[in-house]
Amino acid sequence: MKKKVLSALLSVAMVATLLVGCGSSAETETAAPAAETEEAAAPAAETEEAAAPAAESNGKKVGVAMPTQSSERWINDGANMKAQLEALGYEVDLQYAEDDVQAQVSQIENMIASGVNCLVIASIDSSALVNVEAQAKEAGIPIIAYDRLLMDTDAVSYYATFDNKGVGTAIGKYIEEKKDLANATESYTIEFFMGSPDDNNAHMLYAGLMEVLQPYLDNGTLVCKSGRTSFDDTCILRWSQETAQQNCENYLTGFYADEDLDICATAFDGFAYGCKAALEGAGYTAENWPLITGQDAELMATKNIIAGTQTMSIYKDTRLLAEKCVTMVQAVLEGEEPEINDTEQYNNNVIVVPSYLCTPVAVDKDNYKEIIVDGGYYTEEQLAE
Ligand code: BGC
Repeated sequence: MKKKVLSALLSVAMVATLLVGCGSSAETETAAPAAETEEAAAPAAETEEAAAPAAESNGKKVGVAMPTQSSERWINDGANMKAQLEALGYEVDLQYAEDDVQAQVSQIENMIASGVNCLVIASIDSSALVNVEAQAKEAGIPIIAYDRLLMDTDAVSYYATFDNKGVGTAIGKYIEEKKDLANATESYTIEFFMGSPDDNNAHMLYAGLMEVLQPYLDNGTLVCKSGRTSFDDTCILRWSQETAQQNCENYLTGFYADEDLDICATAFDGFAYGCKAALEGAGYTAENWPLITGQDAELMATKNIIAGTQTMSIYKDTRLLAEKCVTMVQAVLEGEEPEINDTEQYNNNVIVVPSYLCTPVAVDKDNYKEIIVDGGYYTEEQLAE
C-alpha cells in the first residue's frame, strides 16, 4: 500500500521488453499438464441423479470434444458429460485435444466420419473450427457449444455456459469489497493476468472485471505499476500457467523492487498457481502476501484458499453445466425444449446463440464449506489430503 499517486505518472517504458505478451506464446507452452491435475477429483458422484434413463436415445451417439486435461475443470466437465449422457442411453465419444488446435479439428472430423448424431464442443480456438462445423452442418449433425462460444458460425444450435461477464464482475466486486476500495484512503498496487485471446470467455471476463475496477484505476486507488491494464497487454495465450508465472516474475523484478504487489487479479486458478510460485520465489511471506483471485475452484485452488496462498476463486458447478448441456443435446436429438435464459448476449458474429447461463459464485475461506463441501463438490477428506 502507498499513498495515492496519479496513475498517469506510472512508468510503462520497461514493459515491452520484460513481458511475454499473449501473441508471442509458442506452441510449446501449451502442452505441459499442470502438476496439480494429478489431484483432479471429478466431483461427479452426483451426476447419476441428474437424468433418468430414457428409451428415446435409440443408440444415438454424441461426440464430446474437450480442450485439455491439463486443468482439472475440463476433466470434470468431460466426466460429467459422459456420465450424464450415458445415463440417458447415449453412446459417447469423449476426446481431449490437449490444447492442440489441429488435433481438435481432426478429432471432430473423425467424430463426423464415425457418424455421431450430435456434437458437443468446448473449443480451443473456435476460429479454427469454422470449416469442420460447416461439414457437420452439411451432414445434418447439430452442434452444442460447451462453456466456450463457437464464433463465426451458423452451425451451432445452443450454448451452455456460465455467465462469463458475471465471472469478471464477481472477481472485481470481491477485490472492491475486500480492499474497501470505495472508502480507501490509501492506494493498492495491482497486476492483471487475463485469459486466452482466442477464448470469447476471456474477453467477457475482462469486460466484467474492468466494469468494476476501471474507476479505481482512473482515480488512483488502484495502481498498476507495469501499466499493463488492457486486455491485449494482459491476456495469456491458451491460459498458460507457465506464462502467468513468467509474467508475474517479470512484474515483480521490474516494478516491485521497492514496493509490494498488493493484488494479483487473475482469471484462472492456473494463473493463481503461477503467481504463487513467482511470489514465493521473490520472497513474499504471509506478512505481505497479496490478494490473489482465480477461477474454477479447482481442488488445488480450494486447498490453497484454506492455506491462505490464494484468496478466492470462482466456483463453477460443472455438474450443473453438464446437466444443462445434456438438455440441449436432447432438444436437438429428440425434439424437446431446452431451458434457455439468454437470447441476447452471445452473438458469435453470425448469429445470436440461444444460451443457458449458469451462475458463478465467488468462494473464499469464509464460505467454501457452505458452497463447496456442503454442495458435495469436494469432501473435507479430499481437501485435507
Ligand atoms: C473457462 C474457465 C477456465 C478457462 C481455462 C475458460 O473458457 O470458462 O472456467 O478457467 O477456460 O481453462
